[in-house]
Amino acid sequence: MNLVAADIAALDRDDPLAEFRERFVVPDGLIYLDGNSLGVAPASVAGDLSHVVAQEWSRDLIASWNGAGWFALPQSLGNRFAPLIGADEDEVVFCDNVSINLFKCLHAALNMRPDRNVVVAEQGGFPTDLYIADGVEGQRAGMNLRLEGRDGDALEDLIDENVAVVLINHVDYKSSVRRDMAALTKLAQDKGALVIWDLCHSAGVMPVDLNGCGSDFAVGCSYKYLNAGPGAPAFIHVAKRHHDALRQPLTGWWSHADPFAFSPDYERSPGIRAMLTGTQPILSMRAIVAALDALEGVDFHAVRAKSQALTDLFIALVEERCSGHGLELATPRDAAIRGSHVSWSHENGYAISQALVARGVVGDFRAPDIMRFGFAPLYLRFSDVAAAVDQLRDILKSGAWRDPAYAQRSLVT
Ligand SMILES: Cc1ncc(COP(=O)(O)O)c(C=O)c1O
Repeated sequence: MNLVAADIAALDRDDPLAEFRERFVVPDGLIYLDGNSLGVAPASVAGDLSHVVAQEWSRDLIASWNGAGWFALPQSLGNRFAPLIGADEDEVVFCDNVSINLFKCLHAALNMRPDRNVVVAEQGGFPTDLYIADGVEGQRAGMNLRLEGRDGDALEDLIDENVAVVLINHVDYKSSVRRDMAALTKLAQDKGALVIWDLCHSAGVMPVDLNGCGSDFAVGCSYKYLNAGPGAPAFIHVAKRHHDALRQPLTGWWSHADPFAFSPDYERSPGIRAMLTGTQPILSMRAIVAALDALEGVDFHAVRAKSQALTDLFIALVEERCSGHGLELATPRDAAIRGSHVSWSHENGYAISQALVARGVVGDFRAPDIMRFGFAPLYLRFSDVAAAVDQLRDILKSGAWRDPAYAQRSLVT
């Protein structure tokens, strides 16, 4: 590739998304390549949450459930967010976390296919998806989990007329492989199965067209590329055609048709509210407002184009400047089937990633040997990519990563 500094500066100068960086707090001197794990704070969130605490909570107190729209937040935020994932009004709610939402969606989907008993998922997918699927299997007599990577090489080959649900990660958390949503949804539905998409690594960083692809269910978190903060509530999408049949087991009062009737009898809410459980963490939920404000007017096709350019540049520069040090690309080279992070395997990946953090280049590590670097196009510059690679080269060449301090494993990697 042989790019010189002037070429990289030109990429930043011509970047149509450059102005969006101002909408976020990016600490000085930090090259943050972990927006795929925890996005940076939106610039307006501190002021916005101060208002929530000082006014809505401290002064207005209980009146804020109505007056500040707290009770309606799961759905009002869902409606605002729906177009970003190709969903319609009243098809999305924010609530709980991905694990809980997956649990509800799996049961709801299985309840819609009572004559089938197989759930297909990916052995290499994010572990919580597997753990929850495992838990659901334990609760439903006769259900079987069929895993890509254990029971067959390709997801496509595992889907037959016994399959009730296919649970698929749109972008894999480790390899960054991006699945073809339209093709896989169709393939599963042609066999009579329903699909659940996990959008954790795609929502907010690429166009997602759930309804255009005919998807049935989707879940995702809001703390990665949506930048809503640590532990912010997740979302659920259920296509409207399924709402009448929506039965999930966590029938808490927020999913009741008339929660303030306080009836001893459960009556399911019509529509997407049937996926709610109980009281939501309102402070975290309110941070989603600032997160969505920061995404207002964003063209996700432009975001995807920049994401591909950033990740292409990163791969090319690492291969040019860091060769001979044992790094193996663990991500597709073809940008069309890649998400917005790039993984390299290296037997000393943990120590190398720690040495990078010490120099202000923050990525993360996924056991056993994956160094992961996420590229959030709204606040990263091409010059950040080049500077990160220069640090990586220096750490590898000098052997700086051998410092025993970098081998100390923290609780969170
Ligand atoms: C693909 C995927 N699914 C689910 C989760 C997390 O689920 P939860 O919100 O329950 O912690 C993550 C977190 O990184 C993830 O990457």
